[in-house]
Amino acid sequence: MALSGNETLPPPQHIAIIMDGNGRWAKQRGLPRTAGHAAGAESFRRIANYCRSLGVRYLTVYAFSTENWKRSQEEIAGIMRLLRRYLEEALQDMEKNRVRFRFFGDLSRLSPALQKLCLDAQNRSSEYDVQVNFCLNYGGRDEIVQAARQFALQVAAGERKPEDLTEDLFEHYLYSAGIPDPELVIRPSGEKRVSNFLLWQSAYSEYVFMNVLWPDFTPEHLDEAIAEYHRRNRRFGGT
Ligand code: FPP
Repeated sequence: MALSGNETLPPPQHIAIIMDGNGRWAKQRGLPRTAGHAAGAESFRRIANYCRSLGVRYLTVYAFSTENWKRSQEEIAGIMRLLRRYLEEALQDMEKNRVRFRFFGDLSRLSPALQKLCLDAQNRSSEYDVQVNFCLNYGGRDEIVQAARQFALQVAAGERKPEDLTEDLFEHYLYSAGIPDPELVIRPSGEKRVSNFLLWQSAYSEYVFMNVLWPDFTPEHLDEAIAEYHRRNRRFGGT
C-alpha cells in the first residue's frame, strides 16, 4: 500500500469530499457552469483512482444536494447527464475497476433512467472492496429525518419500543448503515461551511478546508489534506 501525507502513517480509511468550486472555475474561464461540472467530474475520477492507490477504503462525495434543485434546469440537467455518463462507463468497466458503489440520498426524485443506473451499479458491485458513496439528492438533515421516520414507523407497527433507540441502532437507519464514519472531510474552494453534509457521520471527523477549486484539485492536494489530518491526529492522539 502506498503511504501519503506522512511517510510512516497510513491514510484514513474513509475520506469524504464536498466537491465545491466548479461554478467559479468555469466563470474564471468564461465558460458555462456545466463545463465546470464536467471538469469536476474529471477531477473526481482522478482523485478516486488516487484514493484507491493509497489504500483508502471508502470515498464519499457530495455530488448533488437536496438544495441543488434550486439551480437552473440547464445546470441540473448537465450534472445529471454527467452522472449518467459516469455510471454507464462504470457499469461497462465494472470487472476491471472492481469498485463498490453506494448511493446516499432520496433517489426517488431522480429520473427513472438514472435511478436504474444507480441500482444496477449498486447491485452489480456489491462484492468489491473499495467503495465510492455518491451523495445524490442528499441532505444531512433529510437523512436524519428519514431515519427517524423509519424508526417511528417500526414503533407504530409494534416492532420496536421507543426505549430501544440508541446511537448504534439509529445508525442502522442512515444511508451510511454499516460504513465507518469518515475520519477526514475535505472542502475545497475556500468556503468554510458544512452545508448539510454527513451531519451525523462527521461528528468526530477532522475537517480540512482548502483554497483550491475542485476542478483544480490534484493528488498533491489530497496528500496535503492527509498530512494535515495526521498532524492534528498526532497532536491530540497522545492524551
Ligand atoms: C458544487 O460546486 C458542485 C456541485 C453542486 C455539483 C458537483 C457535481 C459534479 C462534480 C459532477 C458529478 C459527476 C460525477 C461523475 C462525480 P458549485 O457549482 O456550487 O461551485 P461554485 O460554488 O463555484 O458555484
